[in-house]
Amino acid sequence: MAEYIAQDILEEIRSRTDIVAVISEYIPLKKSGANYKALCPFHNEKTPSFMISPAKQIYHCFGCGEGGNVFNFVMKYEHLDFSEAAGKIAEKAGVNIPRQFGADKKMQSLFNQLYKINEAAADFFSGHLNESLDASHSRDYLKERGFTQKTLLDFKLGYAPNNWTALYDYLRHKDFSVEMIEKAGLISPKGGGGYCDRFRNRVMFPIFNLYDKVIGFGARALEEKQIPKYLNSSDTPVFNKGKNLYGLNLAKREIISKDRAIIVEGYTDCIRCHENGFKEAVAPLGTALTEWQIRALKRYTKNVILIFDADQAGETASLRGLDLLISEGIIPKIAVMPAGFDPDKYLLEKGAEEYEKIVKNAPDFFDYKVNLLRLKYKAQDPEGKAGIAAELLPTLARVDNAVLKSAYVRKLADVLEVAGTDILSELKKIKNVNYSYDKNEIKKISQDSRVDMAEKILFVLMLEDNNLIKEVRNALRPVDFESDGMRKIVELIFDFAEKGKEICPSRLIDAMGGNEAARLISSISVDTPEITDAAKNLNDCIRTIKRRNIDKKIKELKAAQRKAQGEKISERTFKLTVEFAQLVNERKKFARSVK
Ligand code: UTP
Ligand code: MN
Repeated sequence: MAEYIAQDILEEIRSRTDIVAVISEYIPLKKSGANYKALCPFHNEKTPSFMISPAKQIYHCFGCGEGGNVFNFVMKYEHLDFSEAAGKIAEKAGVNIPRQFGADKKMQSLFNQLYKINEAAADFFSGHLNESLDASHSRDYLKERGFTQKTLLDFKLGYAPNNWTALYDYLRHKDFSVEMIEKAGLISPKGGGGYCDRFRNRVMFPIFNLYDKVIGFGARALEEKQIPKYLNSSDTPVFNKGKNLYGLNLAKREIISKDRAIIVEGYTDCIRCHENGFKEAVAPLGTALTEWQIRALKRYTKNVILIFDADQAGETASLRGLDLLISEGIIPKIAVMPAGFDPDKYLLEKGAEEYEKIVKNAPDFFDYKVNLLRLKYKAQDPEGKAGIAAELLPTLARVDNAVLKSAYVRKLADVLEVAGTDILSELKKIKNVNYSYDKNEIKKISQDSRVDMAEKILFVLMLEDNNLIKEVRNALRPVDFESDGMRKIVELIFDFAEKGKEICPSRLIDAMGGNEAARLISSISVDTPEITDAAKNLNDCIRTIKRRNIDKKIKELKAAQRKAQGEKISERTFKLTVEFAQLVNERKKFARSVK
C-alpha cells in the first residue's frame, strides 16, 4: 500500500505528526498514565478499552482488537484508502505531497489513476446518454420511468453503447493504459486476445465514494433478455461493494440535518427518494448490508429506517442486516412496501406524502420481526411460542441498552403470554453476540492475542534496543516463531536491521501493510509488561521459545514413532528413536535453566 507515496514523504508526514493530536480531533481522549484512553470508535462499549501510546505512536483496542498507526486510524475512521488518509494527515501536518498529473503517470498513485479512468468513463456514458443518436431508446426508457433531467444530471446517469469496444477505444484515445483500464474493471480480456467492454447497451449508474469520486458502476439492462438485470463493477482497488453505499455522497448532509437515514434496496429506489425530497436515502450495492456500511452511516445518525420491497420481507439477508444494525447500537425501524410496490413505484404512484407516512409509521425491529414470526409459527401453541422466542432472542440479545432490552423482554412475554422471567432466563443463555464481527474475524482476533508471551517480550526488547536484534538473530530464525504473522514481523525486523533502518511499530505496520498486520503489531506493542532486566529477559525468552519448539517436535516424533511401530517398519522406528534421544538430550539443556 505504502508504495504509492514516496517513502521519504511518508517519513516526513510521520515525523511531523502526533497520533494523539490527530485522534483527539475525532474522539475525546483521557490521559491515563503515559498513555491515553478513549471509548473505542470501532465497536460499542461503555468502559474505555481503546488505548493510544504516544511513545509508540500506535493505538490499540483491547475490546475489539483494532489497532495500528495514525494512518490506519484515519483510514478506518474516515473509510479512506491509504493514500487518501496519508493526504489528509499530510495536510494537517503541512507536508506537501507532490502530485504530477498527466506528464509523469508513474508518479501518480494507482488510486488517482483509477478515479480518473472511472470519471472519464462516467463522462463518456453520460455524454452518450445526452447526445448520441444510438442512445435514443435509453433516453426514452428513462423518460418513460419519469426521471427528470435534473435527476439524470445529479446522479450522472449514462448509457453504455451497444458496441464491443466503444469505451475501450475512448479511454485508449485518452491515453489510459490497457492495464489500468482493466484494473478499473471496465474491460475484460477476450478469448482470442484483445479486450471488450464490460458494459454494453445498459443504463449506467455511476457509484461515487463519500468524496464524490466515481469508483464503479451499476449497469441496468435495457432488454428483457439481458442477464443479469443489474451488472455491477467487480471489486477493484478503489471499489468494494460492501464498503460503499449508493447515494451517501449526496445524502450525508441531509442525513445530519434530518437526523435520519432511509435505506432502500435499489439504485432506482434511492434516486426516486431523492427526487421526491427524501435526500436522506441510500442503498447498498446489490449485496446485504454490511457493518462497514452501517459504520459509515452511524457517523451521521442513529436513526435508521429500512424499507424493504414487498417481495423481500423476511429474507435472511435482510434479517442479518437488522441484527448488524442493532449490534452497532442502532435500533432500526422497518417498513415493508405494500404488495407489488417498491419505493420507486410507490413514490411514482402515491406521491411523497403517502411515502412519508410509511417512513414515519415504520414499526421498530421488534414488532417487525414478531409479525414475521407469527406467520411462521402458531403463537398459541407451546412449540410455536418456543420457536418465536428462539428466533427473536438472538436479536434481542444484541440490544445494548439495558432499559430498552428489558422493555422488549416484557413485550415479548406479553405477546407469547408467558412469564417475563422465563424469557429472561432464555435470553441469558445467549452469550457473546453483542458485537458484530463475523466469525472469521473473531477467530483472527483471538489468534492475534494468543501470541506467545515470550515472543511478545522479544519483540518489545528488539524494538526498544535495536542492538539486541543481532542476538535474537543468532539464536532464532523467523520460522521458530509460532504464527505466520509473527514470522513475517520478525523477518521484517531482521531485514530492517540488516539495512540499518530505524525500527518502530508504526514503520513496521506500514511496511507490512494490511489491517491484520496493523492489529497484530499494535496488540503486541501495547500488551506487554515493563521489562527491567533486558539481558536476562532476552535469554529467558529465547530459551522458552526453543524449549517450546523442541517439545512440539518431540510430540510430533512420538506420534510418528507410534505410527512406525504400528506399521512394523523397524528401520524407520530405529531412526526415529535415535532422533528422539537427541532431542530429549537437547531439551534437558533448557529444562534446568528455565522455570
Ligand atoms: P431490484 O430488482 O429490486 O431492482 O434490485 P430495482 O432497483 O428496483 O431496479 P428497477 O427499478 O427494476 O430498475 C434491487 C437492487 O439489487 C441489485 C441492484 O443494486 C438493484 O438496485 N441487483 C439486482 C443486482 O445487483 N443485480 C441484479 O441482477 C438485480
Ligand atoms: Mn426494486
